[in-house]
Amino acid sequence: MNHFEQLIERLSDKPKLWLVTGSAGFIGSNLLETLLRYNQLVVGLDNYATGSPGNLDQVRDLVGPERWQHFMKIDGDIRDLDTCKRACHGVDYILHQAALGSVPRSLAYPGDSHATNVTGFLNMLIAARDSGVKRFVYASSSSVYGDHPALPKVEDAIGRCLSPYAATKRANELYAEVFGQCYGLSTIGLRYFNVFGPRQDPNGPYAAVIPKWIAAMIRNEPISINGDGETSRDFCYVANVVQANLLAATVKKPQAINQVYNVALSARTTLNELFGLLQEKLLPWSPHLKTCRPDYQDFRPGDVRHSEADISKAMRLLGYKPSHTVEQGLAEALAWYRQHLAGPEFAAQNPEPREQPLKSSVRRRRHLIPVP
Ligand SMILES: NC(=O)c1ccc[n+]([C@@H]2O[C@H](COP(=O)([O-])OP(=O)(O)OC[C@H]3O[C@@H](n4cnc5c(N)ncnc54)[C@H](O)[C@@H]3O)[C@@H](O)[C@H]2O)c1
Repeated sequence: MNHFEQLIERLSDKPKLWLVTGSAGFIGSNLLETLLRYNQLVVGLDNYATGSPGNLDQVRDLVGPERWQHFMKIDGDIRDLDTCKRACHGVDYILHQAALGSVPRSLAYPGDSHATNVTGFLNMLIAARDSGVKRFVYASSSSVYGDHPALPKVEDAIGRCLSPYAATKRANELYAEVFGQCYGLSTIGLRYFNVFGPRQDPNGPYAAVIPKWIAAMIRNEPISINGDGETSRDFCYVANVVQANLLAATVKKPQAINQVYNVALSARTTLNELFGLLQEKLLPWSPHLKTCRPDYQDFRPGDVRHSEADISKAMRLLGYKPSHTVEQGLAEALAWYRQHLAGPEFAAQNPEPREQPLKSSVRRRRHLIPVP
């Protein structure tokens, strides 16, 4: 049994109360799903700026009605301190995901990114400190590496920020460090690298490349690549990110705490390779893809050419071990996109996992869910 499996067993036996902010979003709803599956009690906070109630409906259907009772939803905004305090009340662990993602969005609306990603983040730190949580885990980003040329990226070698979004995430890390030093708050920052998986939004101007391309391939729409396609990224399946969050929340080693960690696969995939993989995997359902070719455009200004994480720090101190390669992750993600974008005929071919029986220890902790 590996480190993560042991943790899951311990948690299932002794359920905890978790707060997931951004719970109606892509990563937040995957955290919620896993926590509920493993018998945990969860409070979710979201204002639906970019997430959707539909994501929560899907989690409800996946975990079943009995586990869904262990979820309490707060529709609210992290820019409001009182809301943050209400959400943090009595909570053991916080997994703070709520933020406005996307570099282009932050370039267009830097004030909005700052209000949620910095002011909202600071509110959450204050609320976490005052409620006495065991650990505050938060989503940072590979964007903090900015213009540092080193590859693979190692946690303590960061460059200048290249966007307002990167600056907000760097500010998060600085504030978390200060709250550790000044108030003894136990924090861990996770620098995610290009996460993908079920429930990642394929629509809108700020969609990430994987969901955008999958949707375009399924809908038979043109696909464009910025540059020659040899740009590479360290694409990371969301199950690996969920694992890192749970490990970070519960790790006890003092040297592991008040640190930041890369969360990725430590493997580079070029955009051309990604296109080929998606094309190959979707071909049986979408024969039109046989002749589909990407449309190569100019390089996008400010885009980093290559990105790859060194994940040895997370492996050493958190016991992190990615469970999914890019190919394995794409297989799971594609099953979801086919079901949700391509229509009901695919649902029969991709049945959802079945509900597991509930442990009695969970029933005993139900009373811990705070009354809103
Ligand atoms: N997806 C990635 O590849 C990636 C990479 C690096 C970092 N991150 C970070 O991971 C976190 C989750 O990202 P995601 O991809 O799931 O994005 P997402 O947009 O799907 O989820 C973010 C959630 O936060 C909510 N939210 C936004 N502003 C809020 C506010 N003011 N109050 C309450 N809720 C609010 C949104 O409604 C949404 O549900 C973010 O902090 C993001 O910056 C993501």
